[in-house]
Amino acid sequence: MKNYLVNTPEGTHDSLWDESAARRGLESSLAGIFERGGYREVRTPVLEYYELYQIARNPIPPDNMVKLTGRDGKLLVLRPDNSTPIARIAATRITDFPCRLYYAQSVYRLAGNRRGDSCELGQCGVELFGIAGYEGDAEILTLAVRALLGAGVCDFHIELGGLAAAELNKIIALLDTGTAAYMRLEPSLTQEIDYYTGMVFRAYADGAGKAVLAGGRYDKLVGDYGRDVPAVGFAVYVDEVLTIRKPSGGDGGGLRIAVTKGRLLDDTLDLLAKAGYAKPASVSDKGDRRLIHKIPDSNISLVLAKAEDVITYCERGACQLGVVGRDTLLERGGEVLELRDLSYGACKFAVAALNSTELKDVRVVASKYPNVARNFFMEQGADVDVIKIDGSVELAPILGVADAIVDIVQTGSTLKANGLQVIADVCAVSARLIANPAALRLCKDAISELLSKLAV
Ligand code: PRP
Repeated sequence: MKNYLVNTPEGTHDSLWDESAARRGLESSLAGIFERGGYREVRTPVLEYYELYQIARNPIPPDNMVKLTGRDGKLLVLRPDNSTPIARIAATRITDFPCRLYYAQSVYRLAGNRRGDSCELGQCGVELFGIAGYEGDAEILTLAVRALLGAGVCDFHIELGGLAAAELNKIIALLDTGTAAYMRLEPSLTQEIDYYTGMVFRAYADGAGKAVLAGGRYDKLVGDYGRDVPAVGFAVYVDEVLTIRKPSGGDGGGLRIAVTKGRLLDDTLDLLAKAGYAKPASVSDKGDRRLIHKIPDSNISLVLAKAEDVITYCERGACQLGVVGRDTLLERGGEVLELRDLSYGACKFAVAALNSTELKDVRVVASKYPNVARNFFMEQGADVDVIKIDGSVELAPILGVADAIVDIVQTGSTLKANGLQVIADVCAVSARLIANPAALRLCKDAISELLSKLAV
């Protein structure tokens, strides 16, 4: 049983001295850079009215906000972003523009809150109010580069998008050459939060699994709080910067592909062999218990892991690529990009039951994939109870624990042998090549080379 006296809530943790000192050091060097640029610090409450985030350009999905009720019965949230309350300050407390503000405070979000995902995210950022047009954009981009360099991040680039390439080039023309060198045009880039009205940008750094900084122009937001003032800003994602690390582990870096152990491994090795990558002898050696295998004469290592862990290593940036079944992707989700359908490992998700059961009669479903099962029946408009079973789920209807199962079906022989039959197909499943979104940008050349050789 969880001991609430000694555990912190999921998504939070105590920081000891080393981590605290690193965080304070990073925040104070960023604060110094911002202050030298003429920015002044503001702080906003950790508690805000839910309504603040319910404006027309609502940036945060309500389900991702930590909500609680105030003494007056009003719905409150733990601050889910910084630009919104600071836009309120600009609208209600500032009269002289342009105005330059900075902050160092956390935001709280429940998004993607799997075990290990933090719901308290440190941000240190700036907002420039009252300068419309590209001069303001250029000031902010220059400061973003200075902030990352000052934070000790060396290998990074900034993707710039949200406008046509010709417009973005006009902004780049206002930057000095040193700063411009960090920019990469990505006109189609968009941000998660939808209040941006002009250029948007995101920085990716070597060794970080996610973006380390993001920002853009949001000229309409301040107007929502009563004063029409153009605005542009960015936030440094403090936690991402603090966790930047170089891969270590004896494989000398290079490209790491996490491959699901078991059924998909042989097909993955065959695919790589067809692409001209020799099979590491150590993988076939049953006595070899190593989990990382270097492909001879290449800069690629294979990391053997369980399916769920393939996604974990990929989304945390420990492996740039992964091979995993769509079944696990659908069940677990993950902040990874699906690059290719590798075709092998083909099977399907299906609902199966004992012979006389019809789909409309199903009330209790057993599955190793409770999210897939729940989503399927929700789409059917059916209200079912889902029981999580860890393996040999065919037993559940036989033993009277469930009316039906949702499971992967390949040849159908397991179902047949146990007197079950498919009563509805859910979706097709096969192996997928996935990538860490940041790695896809940082290791573009190495990944493109691999992709061009893979014959799928
Ligand atoms: C999967 C699945 C079915 C079986 C389907 O189980 O859960 O039991 O394969 O394959 P078939 O249609 O070719 O018979 P797996 O072998 O992965 O074992 P598990 O049930 O212990 O996870």
